[in-house]
Amino acid sequence: MRTIKSYVKRKGRITDGQNLAIKNLWSKYGVDFKKEILDFPSLFCNENPIYLEIGFGDGELLIKQAQLYPKINFIGIEVHDPGIGHCLLQIENHNLCNVRIISHDAIEVLEEQIGNTSLERINIYFPDPWPKKKHHKRRIIQLDFLDLLYEKLFSKGLLYLATDWENYKEHINFSIKDHGKFMSIQYHEHEGDQAIDRPTSKFEQRGLKKGHKIWDWQLRKLI
Ligand SMILES: C[S@@+](CC[C@H](N)C(=O)[O-])C[C@H]1O[C@@H](n2cnc3c(N)ncnc32)[C@H](O)[C@@H]1O
Repeated sequence: MRTIKSYVKRKGRITDGQNLAIKNLWSKYGVDFKKEILDFPSLFCNENPIYLEIGFGDGELLIKQAQLYPKINFIGIEVHDPGIGHCLLQIENHNLCNVRIISHDAIEVLEEQIGNTSLERINIYFPDPWPKKKHHKRRIIQLDFLDLLYEKLFSKGLLYLATDWENYKEHINFSIKDHGKFMSIQYHEHEGDQAIDRPTSKFEQRGLKKGHKIWDWQLRKLI
């Protein structure tokens, strides 16, 4: 797939607590990146459905959803260390046994570690908007990426997206139409009050305070 990354690894300040969490909790909740397909039943010790969240930030929505749905297994992928540390702390504090984290580029994780037709649902909430035109190629939602998501979802599996960036909303709508293999089940433009099957997040609230609108999609893999 493409070589241009959809993220830049920011140095970002990492707190002592987050560092310690990575050191002490990674072996409990982290999954190392390997070029080997994951065996979900042995990873979670059960056969519950798998929801994947790509770019979970500090894990706020991942944790809230894992609390809401204890009979679902959640895999979160993120590359930002402070967010990973924060999320590990939350998993431990809430005693969640249905969450695992991978710290690596989501595109490579999908290609190398996630089996085809193994996911019931994929969530991508507020992906980096890359606002400058010259950076649009860095946006994670592209046709080849949609192909990859399509391949990993079960038949009729679900894809949830949200953004607060109007030009990215247009880009997403064009991409979905061009791709043609996802059907729109729900699509809302709203002001923080019509999120589709997800709690609200701090990130979303920040966008709303800046006067942004929010766009949410629920898409279904055709076939
Ligand atoms: C704008 S933030 C949104 C975070 C979170 N979803 C939320 O709603 O609060 C986007 C996140 O996606 C992550 N990200 C971007 N590209 C990624 C990739 N290829 N693999 C893993 N994470 C990625 C970034 O590190 C960043 O934390």
